Amino acid sequence: MESGLPPQSATLASAAPARLDSPALAPVLQPLSPLALQLQRVTGAVVGRPLELAAIQQELGVARGGRLAGVTVEGEPGIGKTRLLLAASELAVAEGFATVAVTADEEIRGPFLLARSIVGSAAAVEAPHAAEAVGRSLGALSGHDDPGLSSLPPDQKLLRTLDLAAVAIRTLAAERPLALLIDDLQWADDDSLRLLRYLVRANAASPIFLMAAIRPEELAFVTEAVNLLADMERIGMVRRLKLTRFTQTQTAELLRQILGGKVDAVGAAAMHGQAEGVPFIVEELAHAYLDAGMIQEIDGTWALAKKAERLVPSAVRTLISRRAAHVPEGTKAAMSLAAVLGRHFSLKDLQAIAVQLGEEETSLDALDAAMSPAVAAGLLVQHAADSAADYGFSHDQVGAFA
Ligand SMILES: Nc1ncnc2c1ncn2[C@@H]1O[C@H](COP(=O)(O)OP(=O)(O)OP(=O)(O)O)[C@@H](O)[C@H]1O
Ligand SMILES: [Mg+2]
Repeated sequence: MESGLPPQSATLASAAPARLDSPALAPVLQPLSPLALQLQRVTGAVVGRPLELAAIQQELGVARGGRLAGVTVEGEPGIGKTRLLLAASELAVAEGFATVAVTADEEIRGPFLLARSIVGSAAAVEAPHAAEAVGRSLGALSGHDDPGLSSLPPDQKLLRTLDLAAVAIRTLAAERPLALLIDDLQWADDDSLRLLRYLVRANAASPIFLMAAIRPEELAFVTEAVNLLADMERIGMVRRLKLTRFTQTQTAELLRQILGGKVDAVGAAAMHGQAEGVPFIVEELAHAYLDAGMIQEIDGTWALAKKAERLVPSAVRTLISRRAAHVPEGTKAAMSLAAVLGRHFSLKDLQAIAVQLGEEETSLDALDAAMSPAVAAGLLVQHAADSAADYGFSHDQVGAFA
């Protein structure tokens, strides 16, 4: 995770031990939400995104009216998905919703882990009217079910687990509309994704606002998540918001928030160009330049030192090497060949170079397959089938790095 969220150890340390042998008898349920999303207070207002905020507001209204309403927020790493999820949670609280915010994790996965974080969240566990339903569901989700039921065949057991969770969430929402916010859905465990699929059908007539942030490139590899979205689209229960990069005006506005004052137009333009409108990179750049003393306040306006425009921004490089850390060597090799071709390239041209250089793998299929981990890591973008180039580097510096 490059941004936004605090280190996972902090989140995990706060999780209570997962013991609930006899849920119905448990006098007080402890929140057990290993994947709770820390709702850190965000200082500045959301920059831009007026249409997205209006859509969220509208879907909150639909949910409050007694129907499950779904929203996804999709886009490349660092584009502002989590930020919008936080904004949605603030709007939901203001509208009187009980809010549960969780995040799936790239490294920490386990059966029903995300689901347990939802049902075991403070908002669920501390709602007195739902204590019994929540307790039973948590018992089933963590495998501490009634001993009499342990002999059920696996498919029936699964169904019962899904059912108990749906009942718990429905019971919660019956008292007060419920906002369920899920960050990084692409990393959710399959069982939890199945549960969400079950929920949208079983609880369609409940006041539930379900919002998920998703990296689309990675989603493609997660069958259960693809199924979930397809299901929700089929029943017309989801609004998909796709975040685009900032305009130069928006970058300048974000810089103003970070620096706490006006930014000189030339400097803002230079940083917008370097970050290419990706808010996370804008922030990283601003902090890097501040640390290096290359951005300074003169008469109430922040100005960037002249030479900064020519520097390769180290923050961008750090970001890229972090994204590239999990990419296989074969992919890196193919990317560095591709970099010779410029920002955008076709597989055919890449193949021609590979053949010329006597590379081992030169079939189009193999080269195409080599690209997919880089797409998943946000280093490359895949172009539409009808465009001349097949792939492009997501940021100018990625090509230079490769
Ligand atoms: N619209 C916005 N207004 C103000 N700040 C923003 C906005 N969008 C993004 N940011 C800031 O940019 C940084 C990156 O945004 P965020 O973490 O939401 O991206 P993300 O899409 O969730 O990335 P990832 O895919 O890595 O999780 C954050 O510090 C966030 O506060
Ligand atoms: Mg995020």
